[in-house]
Order: sequence, then C-alpha cells, then structure tokens
Amino acid sequence: MPTVSVCAPAAEERYDIVIERGLLRRAAPLLGAYAGRRAAVVADEHTATLYGRALLCALRKAGAEATLLTLPAGETTKSAEQLFALYDAFLAAGLTRADAVFALGGGVIGDLAGYAACTYLRGVDFIQVPTTLLAQVDSSVGGKVAVNHPRGKNLLGAFYQPRLVLIDPNTLSTLDERQFGAGLGEVVKCGCIADSALFELLESLGSRKALVPHLPEIVARCCALKARYVREDPHDHGVRMQLNFGHTLGHALENALGYGRMLHGEGVCIGMAAAARWGERKGVTPPGTAKRLVALLDAYGLPSALPQGLSPEQLAETMALDKKAEGRTVRAVLLNRIGACDVFPMTARELVDLTFERA
Ligand SMILES: NC(=O)c1ccc[n+]([C@@H]2O[C@H](COP(=O)([O-])OP(=O)(O)OC[C@H]3O[C@@H](n4cnc5c(N)ncnc54)[C@H](O)[C@@H]3O)[C@@H](O)[C@H]2O)c1
Repeated sequence: MPTVSVCAPAAEERYDIVIERGLLRRAAPLLGAYAGRRAAVVADEHTATLYGRALLCALRKAGAEATLLTLPAGETTKSAEQLFALYDAFLAAGLTRADAVFALGGGVIGDLAGYAACTYLRGVDFIQVPTTLLAQVDSSVGGKVAVNHPRGKNLLGAFYQPRLVLIDPNTLSTLDERQFGAGLGEVVKCGCIADSALFELLESLGSRKALVPHLPEIVARCCALKARYVREDPHDHGVRMQLNFGHTLGHALENALGYGRMLHGEGVCIGMAAAARWGERKGVTPPGTAKRLVALLDAYGLPSALPQGLSPEQLAETMALDKKAEGRTVRAVLLNRIGACDVFPMTARELVDLTFERA
C-alpha cells in the first residue's frame, strides 16, 4: 500500500497519507488508534450515501464508537451556519477532547470539518478521507482548513494538520465528469510547477480514459509533491506559495462570477493558461509553453479561455480583493519552464493588462 509521509517540522504535525484502491473497506487495521474513542464522521449527502457505511463499518470494526453527521452538498455548506451546526452535533454526540473527527468527502467537507475539529474544545484529532480528485491530490494534504465569509472564500481559517489521510482512488469512479476534471486541473498544476515527468505522463496518456488505471500512482505523486512543500513551508510564507500557480486569476474568476458558477479547479485551469501567457510576455516562461499547456488542457476537456464578457475593470477589482494580495501587490507564480516556477510580486493592474494584452 503506497504511503506518503508528511514530515512537518513539529513532531505532532507528522502524518501518513495511505493510498490504495479499495482502502475504505479495508481501513480497520489502520484505525486501531481510535478503539474505545468516539468518532464523528462528517460527510455530505452524496458521500454519506455512497461511502458512509463503509467508513462506519471500518471504524466500528476497529473498536470506535462512530456517528455519521450528514450535511448538504456544495460550497455554501462551508459557512458559519454549518460550522455551528457541527459544533451542536459534536456536543450532542458527547465528543470530548479524546475523540476524533473524520472528514468523508471533497474539499468542502474537508475544509469545514477540519476547521470544526481545530476549534472544537481547542482541537480534537482530525482524519481526512477525501473522495474527490481535488481533495485527494490537494485539499486533504497540508492542513489548510477554512470556512467562507459572505465577503470572500476561506476568509476564516487555520492551519491544522490531520492525524492521517486515507485515500481510496476507487471512490473516484462515482464522481461526475465535471468534478473529476476540476481535480485534474490540480494534477496538471503539480506537473507544471515541480514535476515535468508527471506533465509528460499526462501528455502521453492523452485522455481521461487512459489515465484511470494510473490514478493511484498519479494521486501518490501529487501527494508526495505537496508533502514536500508542506515540510519546507508549513505555514505558507515562502516556497509553498508556488502551489498557487493558476490561483491568482482562478480565485478572481470564482469571485467575479459568484461562488458555484465556476468550480475551483476550472478557475485554476484558466488561471494556469493565463499565467503561462503572462510569463511568456514577461520573458520568464519559454515561448511555446502556454501552447503546450493549453493543448494538454484541451486533451483532457479542461477549460483554458477567459469567460466571455469579463471586463478588465471587474477583474482588477476582484484580484485586488484576493486575500493573498498585499496592498495592491499580487504574488503571481510564473513558470521558468514546465516543472519549475517562481513567485513574482506584481501589481493587479499589471496582471490585468497582461491578461487582456493581444497576442
Ligand atoms: N484546504 C485546501 O488546501 C484546499 C485546496 C484546494 C481547494 N480547497 C477547497 O475545496 C473545495 C472544493 O472541493 P471539491 O472540489 O472536492 O468540491 P466538493 O467538496 O463540493 O465536492 C464536489 C461534489 O462532489 C460530490 N462528491 C464528493 N465525492 C464524491 C464521490 N466520490 N462520488 C460522487 N460524488 C462525490 C460532493 O458531494 C459534491 O457534490 C473548495 O471549497 C476549495 O476552497 C481547499
């Protein structure tokens, strides 16, 4: 069973990411630490129906007293209201500091349940069981947990590392194509910023169908890459910012269009294509890189073009609002080549001009 270890500088923040097809049904031996403890399994209505039983069975087999808490699906669940609903449910279930919270679902459930675990009784054990591709390759690793504020995504958050991450790539077989594609965007990102061999593997496979048999290996590669960044920069002050490749514009698009109209990973795809063009125009990225990246995104049915009707003014405003902007400076990640990148402080205005500059 491939295991990636996240070796954060603080010993209490070290954990394993276990990746194996069918793991959910065979997880009991990995859950021995929860014997005799209560486990609140937070899921959304889809993941509760599809996988709730399997995780509850594994936990009960391991000797834990497990309860399933089901929330509505979708980004609006990452809210203060649902957070307080979770605290109520934890209290009703009698969860103490010795107990644990499991997140069974995509990034929404992982971020929300993680924030709840981090703040409930000043912190209880947290275990990620990600079921979307985006969550398996990105959001379940690294300890960023958050809820949204009406004025912006993830504005209320913390760093809180899970104790364990259990990844069963078989869960991806029930994911719809659009959600799968959004996760693939983050896989392409990993290739772009730090793993040219992964980028080339994606190019050689060339289609979603051909990629499916390679999912465990691809997920493991992305987790290993993220684990390296987390080890070097657990609190996102330096090199970890490279993981934001494509996110400056991606977040701005999500905000400009309103939550839910564009998926996070779709915004990232468009943002990566734009960032490759920014880099070429600034002379940082070798010519032809943007074309190569767009060809890969096209092959996997992923978006790369800006949405119609978006004005430079609208984009400038939302970019400057991004919480990663310091004053009017935005930290843009540009590619030195496929597989290597750097962070460049730029103004939101400069990025908007580069975005709308004619080729
Ligand atoms: N913490 C981080 O580091 C980090 C990184 C990236 C993104 N995020 C956050 O992640 C969130 C997006 O996560 P997401 O893309 O996983 O979306 P999501 O959690 O909303 O899941 C997408 C949909 O897929 C359904 N689903 C989940 N697993 C399924 C399965 N196996 N089969 C069928 N349906 C399934 C869910 O019920 C939901 O309807 C955003 O809020 C974003 O801000 C966090």
